Amino acid sequence: MDEISEALADPQTVTHPAVYDALLTRIRREAPLRWMTPEGFRPFWLVAKHADLLEVESRADIFLSAPRTELIPRKEEEQIAAATGGNQQMMRTILHMDGAEHRAYRGLTQPAFMPPNLCKLEAGITAIAKEYVQRMVELGDACDFVKDIAVWYPLRVILLLLDLPPEAAPEILRLTQNFVERKDQNIVGEGPSEQVAVQSAQEILDYVSKLYESRKAAPGDDLASVIATAKIGGEPISPFEAMSYLLLVVTAGHETTSATTAGGMLALLQNPGELERLQADLTLLPGAVDEMLRWVSPVKHFFRTAVQDYELRGQKIKAGDSLMLCFPSANRDEEVFADPFSFKIDRKPNPHTTFGYGPHACLGQHLGKMEIRILLKEILENFDGLQLAGEPAWVATTFAGGLKTLPIRYRRRQLPG
Ligand code: HEM
Repeated sequence: MDEISEALADPQTVTHPAVYDALLTRIRREAPLRWMTPEGFRPFWLVAKHADLLEVESRADIFLSAPRTELIPRKEEEQIAAATGGNQQMMRTILHMDGAEHRAYRGLTQPAFMPPNLCKLEAGITAIAKEYVQRMVELGDACDFVKDIAVWYPLRVILLLLDLPPEAAPEILRLTQNFVERKDQNIVGEGPSEQVAVQSAQEILDYVSKLYESRKAAPGDDLASVIATAKIGGEPISPFEAMSYLLLVVTAGHETTSATTAGGMLALLQNPGELERLQADLTLLPGAVDEMLRWVSPVKHFFRTAVQDYELRGQKIKAGDSLMLCFPSANRDEEVFADPFSFKIDRKPNPHTTFGYGPHACLGQHLGKMEIRILLKEILENFDGLQLAGEPAWVATTFAGGLKTLPIRYRRRQLPG
């Protein structure tokens, strides 16, 4: 048994950040392009260096996103294949497409995520951020920053994009947490993970199918309507692809943004000098958000599959081999980031890979950054004395996630006038 492969495929490893960091540092030092053979999974190459990750992502003609996108146990893959008639995934989103098809599907929603449209959303997002500041005030001088604030805020922004009412938040939170965080038994309860995976995917697909039907019948000008009525080459996209698209929008921007917001808050509390500097000069916020993204790296990997032989870092990748792009490792690469284990709000340059790179680079990256910036500004303007008030804990995952609890303490700031 290969202990490094086992540790990387163990969802518990990320719940001990020092252990996870040490594991990736060791991999970068000893074998940065490493053949991994965890038991119960199909083997793969681990891409741990920043330069290699960018090379693989930019050669999207050779390294395809389909069919393997994330690390799934063989047993779960078999259950999914049985439930879908042979597919490797329960859905088919733009993350699972390549080439011209990917460009066409991505193009359907791209304008909604570009800065001109985001400007229109800024006032709505600020109003939601103010609501959560008010929530912190109501909670007195302490809260669990994850459970009370960070999981709700990005979800409310997604509801705004999809024109769903705020009351839908608890149900969507339950569905997305079951689906995305299914490896953390504390959150999803007992049960063999492969069954939980299929059930949770089915439940959330049922939810988006109702959304799809309602928007198709009576479209508005929200993102769900754009997807439900989308056409490619004059033909409507299939209901399955539309529902998959909706599912991606609901899940992709939630867990990731909330993990970065909470992990960024923890980084500030653990680096009080940086917190003080930021609070004194909020023009540092955009840089601080980028450093939080590098620091937290909430997406742990995506896969690519080679369609032809390719030489990378002196090793031969064979056609059919799959590769795990390890974003958190690239973000601590000593050859790219000076002092990579220090959290510096004014790090320059900061070429982090948190949103990926190349044709699949995160579509929601401007939105994600804007959300985090707006919430932090509101919090830093309204509170001081921010500090840790208990032990943080992390969600067990191999794919995407962050803190599941972050007890903090704070004081309402006395504003001049
Ligand atoms: C801090 C927040 C976020 C992080 C860290 C993040 C990270 C990522 C990563 C790593 C990818 C894959 C990139 C690749 O394969 O090269 C991705 C893709 C994607 N993200 Fe995000 N994301 C975030 C927020 C959002 C938001 C707010 C949305 C929208 C509501 C969103 C929507 C998408 C979509 C649609 C894709 C698929 C793009 C494609 O395959 O062409 N993301 N994201």
